[in-house]
Amino acid sequence: MSFTIIGTGSALPKTIQTNEDLAQFLDTSHEWIVSRTGIEARHICVDESILDIALEASVNALANAQIKPAELDLIICPTLGGDTVTPSLACLIQEQLGATCPSFDLNAACSGFVYGLDVADAYFSRNGDMKILVIAVDAMSKLVDWQDRATAVLFGDGAGATVLTSGDSLKAIQLTAVGNQHALSIPWPKGNHPLTTGQPHPAPYLLMDGPEVYRFAVAAICSDLRSVTQKAGIALADLDYIIPHQANQRIIEGAAKRLKLSIDKFVLRVDGCGNTSAASIPLVLDELNRNGLFKSGTRIALTAFGGGLTTGACVIEWA
Ligand code: UT7
Repeated sequence: MSFTIIGTGSALPKTIQTNEDLAQFLDTSHEWIVSRTGIEARHICVDESILDIALEASVNALANAQIKPAELDLIICPTLGGDTVTPSLACLIQEQLGATCPSFDLNAACSGFVYGLDVADAYFSRNGDMKILVIAVDAMSKLVDWQDRATAVLFGDGAGATVLTSGDSLKAIQLTAVGNQHALSIPWPKGNHPLTTGQPHPAPYLLMDGPEVYRFAVAAICSDLRSVTQKAGIALADLDYIIPHQANQRIIEGAAKRLKLSIDKFVLRVDGCGNTSAASIPLVLDELNRNGLFKSGTRIALTAFGGGLTTGACVIEWA
């Protein structure tokens, strides 16, 4: 027994920052950003906290699933971090919802949502009938260096949630991790113990070797999709939708070409949101679900990659 998705929800902060807005203070242009990434705009938390958007997505998903917070047995929050180191964001979401279940954050960077589904799957295997909220949220605008044009233009903020109940929609899932500090990292300030005085504190902003992550991402999408569909016993061509992590349109196009698949099978939503890290896949899931694109039997593959370096992929058959 695994799970079935019974509800989805999402939330984006209301402030939109276009490429033209960024070109006001960065040495960049709309043309460069669109041609290299496909990104046109991103949503940024200005008036909202990270908890605000996480809560909005969670409430939407619970309403869509028609269940009450008190019915939840577990809250898993894939995120790079909320507004506080502790309490975890998951505990604050639990408090605000009025739920009473165990709740924890999970950090697998942009692969976090698929990691969260895999952890949820293990709970269903152990406990059988449960209701689990997986709420993925990241506010990358708080983690990038706004002086660094090579990274600041890529990211945005958002939250995407799903409510899971026991079922057999999950046909296959797999995770990978290849520890790598150099390709993508966000250092933490080292604290202020007197004995550490004098050591330089790295700025707590995202550092990335873009071309290395790009190559890793294209290869990971291809190998993960091949093996997860094989595990599910279906051909790539049998998938109705592939929802990849929305980092860069060129990465997705490159993977589609290598896999000899039509780009139309891949859902592309990089343009309006940029890379929202763990939230990017559930944001798209919610949009497609609300637009009625998923029918009973629709086959969906999710494929994610990100800091760690981590990857995760799964095949879901809509119930
Ligand atoms: O969730 C996972 C997170 N990360 C990713 O998915 C990122 C993966 N990597 C990428 O998407 C791409 O590598 C980038 C979009 C980050 C960069 O594209 P690229 O085609 O690999 O460009 P590049 O880093 O090789 O830079 C090419 C040029 C450089 O100038 P020179 O050295 O050729 O003169 C950069 O300084 O573009 C310059 N550049 C920019 N120019 C205008 C870098 N950023 C910008 C910018 N505007 N924003």
